[in-house]
Amino acid sequence: MAVGKLLIFLTTSVLTLTLIQPHPAVGSRTFISDSDGAAIITNPPPLGICASAVTKYGYKCQEIDVTTEDGYILNVQRIPTGKDGGGGDGGGRKREPVLLQHGVLVDGMTWLLNSPEQSLALILADNGFDVWIANTRGTSYSRRHVTLDPDKPEFWNWTWDEIAAFDLPAVIAYIFQQTNQKVQYVGHSLGTLIALASFSEGKEIDKIKSAAMLSPVAYLSHMTTALGVLAAKVFVGEITIVFGLAEFNPKGEDVDRFLKGLCADPKVSCYDLMTAITGRNCCLNSSTVDVFLRSEPQPTSTKNLVHFSQTVRDGVLAKYDYGTPIFNIEHYGSPRPPIYNLSNIPKDFPLFISHGGQDALADSKDVANLLDDLKLHDEGKLSVQYVREFAHADFIMGVTAKDVVYDKIVSFFQRNQ
Ligand SMILES: *[C@@H]1O[C@H](CO)[C@@H](O)[C@H](O)[C@H]1NC(C)=O
Ligand SMILES: *[C@@H]1O[C@H](CO)[C@@H](O)[C@H](O)[C@H]1NC(C)=O
Ligand SMILES: *[C@@H]1O[C@H](CO)[C@@H](O)[C@H](O)[C@H]1NC(C)=O
Repeated sequence: MAVGKLLIFLTTSVLTLTLIQPHPAVGSRTFISDSDGAAIITNPPPLGICASAVTKYGYKCQEIDVTTEDGYILNVQRIPTGKDGGGGDGGGRKREPVLLQHGVLVDGMTWLLNSPEQSLALILADNGFDVWIANTRGTSYSRRHVTLDPDKPEFWNWTWDEIAAFDLPAVIAYIFQQTNQKVQYVGHSLGTLIALASFSEGKEIDKIKSAAMLSPVAYLSHMTTALGVLAAKVFVGEITIVFGLAEFNPKGEDVDRFLKGLCADPKVSCYDLMTAITGRNCCLNSSTVDVFLRSEPQPTSTKNLVHFSQTVRDGVLAKYDYGTPIFNIEHYGSPRPPIYNLSNIPKDFPLFISHGGQDALADSKDVANLLDDLKLHDEGKLSVQYVREFAHADFIMGVTAKDVVYDKIVSFFQRNQ
C-alpha cells in the first residue's frame, strides 16, 4: 500500500476507534482514570524506589545510575543484605548477585508491592543474595539521557531490541564490575523476552549463571486478552505515523482517549483492565493492586508496542520490522528483519521456567512453542513449572507466589551456585 493510502486508512480506522463513545458501564472504570473518570497525568513519584519501598522495612538499599552505550541513564536499586543487615552470608561464600528484570509498562517497583515476606526482592535478600533491580529506559526513574530530552520524540526511538542490546548489557556489566561475580537472573514478561533474545545471540550468557523466567513471553500469537489483540491490530499499522505519539504514557490523555476507544469495542471488556490485559489472576491482594496503580502503569515507547504487535502478528521472534524490504535492507542488510533463534541458547544453560494456566499474555500455547525451541536442552538444566491457577500478575504480586514459585527460585539458584 502506498504511504498516502496507508495514512488515510490508518487515520480513518483510528478516528473511528477514538470517536466512538465508551460504553457507559466501562468508561468510568479504567485504571488510567480516577474515580471521577478524569485522566490522571503521571508525575514521577517523589521518592526513589529505595525510600518508598525498601528502607522503611529495615533493609539497606542503594540508588545507582548506570549509563548505556547509547546514552540512556538507567536507575538501578541494590539491596546488598537481608533485613537489619542479616540474611546469611551464603555459608561463608560471598553473597551472589541476582538481577530482577521487570516487564513492559511497569518498572522495578513491581518486585516490591506486597509485604516484605511476600516480595521476591526481599525474600532473595533474606536468603543470602545481593539483590539488584533494573528499571528500563523510559520508566519514571530512567527517563534520562546524556543528550536527548524525554519530552522529544528522539528519546523514544527504540523497542525491546534496544533494551536487549543496550540496557541489559549495561546493568549486567555494572553488577559484574562491582561484585566480580556472575549474575543470577529473574525476568518477568518482557524481562524474559529480552534475556532469551540476548542468549539466543550468544550475548550476556557468559556473565549469567542461571535464569528464572516467570510468565515467559517470546511468542505472542495465541495471546487471549481481547484488549491486547485489538490493540495489537491497531498498533501494528504503524500507529506512530498517525498518533505522532513517540511516548506511550498509559496515564496520559492521548492514551486515555485511545484506550477508551478500544474499550468501546463490544468484544472488549474493560470493566477491570487488569483482568482484561493480564488474565484472571487468582491471588491478588486488593490493597497491593491499589499500591500497584499508584506507581504503575509506566510509559514505554509507541515503537516498542508496535514491535510487540508485530510479534503477535508474525508468530516469530524477530527484530523490529521497518515495514518495507527497502527500509529493512537499510537497517539490517536483508529484506526481512533478522530472527532471534531460541534454539541457539546453549543447551547446558540452567533455566527455570514458570508459567500460568490463566495467563492471557503468556498463553500456554505460546509457552509450548518456546519449550519446543528448548526441546534439545540438556535434561536437568531445564525446569518447567506450570501453575494452573496463576495469571500474568500473580507471578509478581500473588499472595501465594512465595510458597508456589519464589521458594522454588531460591532453591534453583542455590543449586546453581
Ligand atoms: C530512529 O532510529 C533509527 C535507527 O535505529 C534511525 O534510522 C532513525 O533515523 C531514527 N529516527 C529518528 C526520528 O530519530
Ligand atoms: C493484603 O495487604 C494488606 C496491606 O498490606 C495486608 O495487611 C494483608 O495482610 C494482605 N493480605 C494477604 C492475604 O496477604
Ligand atoms: C534455528 O536454529 C536451528 C539450529 O540451531 C535450526 O535447525 C532452525 O532451522 C533455525 N530456525 C530458523 C527459523 O531459522
